[in-house]
Amino acid sequence: MRLTETADVWWKNAVVYCLDVETFFDTDGDGRGDLQGVSQRIDHLAELGVTCLWLMPFYPTPDRDDGYDITDFYGVDPRLGSHGDLVELLTLAQDRGIRVIADLVVNHTSDQHPWFRSARESRQSPYRGWYVWRDEPPPDADKGIVFPDQEDSLWQYDEEAGQYYLHRFYKHQPDLDIANAEVREEIERVIGFWSQLGMSGFRVDAVPFLLDTAGALDASGLPDPHDYLRDLRAFLDRRRGQSMLLGEVNLPYPDVRRFFGDEDGDELTMCFDFIGMQRLYLSLARNDPAELVQALRSRPDRPEEGQWGTFVRNHDELTLDKLSDEERQEVFDAFGPAENMQLYGRGLRRRLPPMLGNDLARLKMVYSLLFSLPGTPVLFYGEEIGMGENLAAEGRNAVRTPMQWTTGLNGGFSTADPAELAAPVTEGEFGPEHVNVAAQRRDPESLLNWMRLLIRRYRECPELSWGECTILEHESPSVFAHRSDHEDGTIVALHNFAAEPARVTLAVAGAGVGVQAVDLLHDGTTDVQEDGMICLDVDGYGSRWLRIIRPGDRYIL
Ligand code: GLC
Repeated sequence: MRLTETADVWWKNAVVYCLDVETFFDTDGDGRGDLQGVSQRIDHLAELGVTCLWLMPFYPTPDRDDGYDITDFYGVDPRLGSHGDLVELLTLAQDRGIRVIADLVVNHTSDQHPWFRSARESRQSPYRGWYVWRDEPPPDADKGIVFPDQEDSLWQYDEEAGQYYLHRFYKHQPDLDIANAEVREEIERVIGFWSQLGMSGFRVDAVPFLLDTAGALDASGLPDPHDYLRDLRAFLDRRRGQSMLLGEVNLPYPDVRRFFGDEDGDELTMCFDFIGMQRLYLSLARNDPAELVQALRSRPDRPEEGQWGTFVRNHDELTLDKLSDEERQEVFDAFGPAENMQLYGRGLRRRLPPMLGNDLARLKMVYSLLFSLPGTPVLFYGEEIGMGENLAAEGRNAVRTPMQWTTGLNGGFSTADPAELAAPVTEGEFGPEHVNVAAQRRDPESLLNWMRLLIRRYRECPELSWGECTILEHESPSVFAHRSDHEDGTIVALHNFAAEPARVTLAVAGAGVGVQAVDLLHDGTTDVQEDGMICLDVDGYGSRWLRIIRPGDRYIL
């Protein structure tokens, strides 16, 4: 492997950090975070080791779905700043070695988008055909509703239009019709615009819904909806090589694999690993890694230059929709027994630390796992300091509270009157007086410093994300052990899912004299026996990463 490959194919061992500009840092005191705020806090991200910043939607919006309802795909919401502020942020990020990607939300627009306003006005509108209309809703109009607490159909009758329109999400988010060539061209222009401005790619919202236009695509002359994704990717590659598309595709593994495209990967560059994430929670609930092992074994191979986006939490509910009813109930019982912690019957509106009873050792173990499993880890802002949720906030907003910087007013997020904030700050055990960046910077044992260490080691060990992962057999059922090999490099990692310490005996290397296993997260060196076996202790909820050193290897450890 040429060393430069990790730069060319940068997403394969990136550290992605997702934030909502609105709740990150407020510089003008209006209670709402802004782009200048992200710029001012860029060094927090740089010191953490972030290499790719994913900005949640920053476009003009009536804000009825946290910005995922857009009225201008080319704009910047004036409450967050201007195009100028965005370019300043891109410039600073580039200087710190951080690429920036934008949320591409083109399955739908806001119903306030000028296109939709025009479309509903008249059948003659040039935008009428940009949306999906019907005189009568189809018989299965109530199948596959995403927000069952608010919606009871995918089709909404519009008085002005005199027809029903398709909306996969809220009724104020009419679906665009990608069967229409003009829509497809417009989406390319949007991608071209932000790429030209300096974005290194996109997190693509709701990809399966984007491709599914209720049958209309068949008539468009595109034989396969995946051709569309292929076209988009080819367009992006032409405009800006080294860009990536990170897709939200929450489907069973064999179906997700199709979204990477053919063997060379000509569609999405990365797909989130929703299945692995859900199985991880089941494993955590059972103090037993078996479910995670099972998920990793069944996870399809990604294309050579593709990658899985691995994550523990995101801005939505922790969806458990791919578990069986009994399995989901197990996770609910363990991590979200109260009804107000659950959402849509399928998920939890919680962050990880409260789910784990704020057990620091266990939290550290979970993040160690995230950074050592094959894939590119994606963090949601606040995870690095172990922020909690605010169950008093509505629905998914529980996990979207302001970033907690200090013990000061509003956790240092804003100088505004607390009543004026874009979202209320978390209170209680997880409030800023207990959980904030400033205190954790100074505490060597903090979660923040653990995250920094994990990220440093993860970046130093591309074996983890580039290499071949082998699950190691041994006798301790609570310990997950795996090794990642890439060319000459071998990393072994152990993670204990139970509170009791464990001892494992493993085969880690070929037979030989003088082979050693050197700890990468703590101090320590263990000799590997001549037959390649090694005996290792791991604390309750402990984790260890070890590099296997053979005589003559030249690593700095
Ligand atoms: C995606 C987003 C979610 C949003 C929805 C509609 O699922 O993650 O937050 O509500 O799309 O755009």
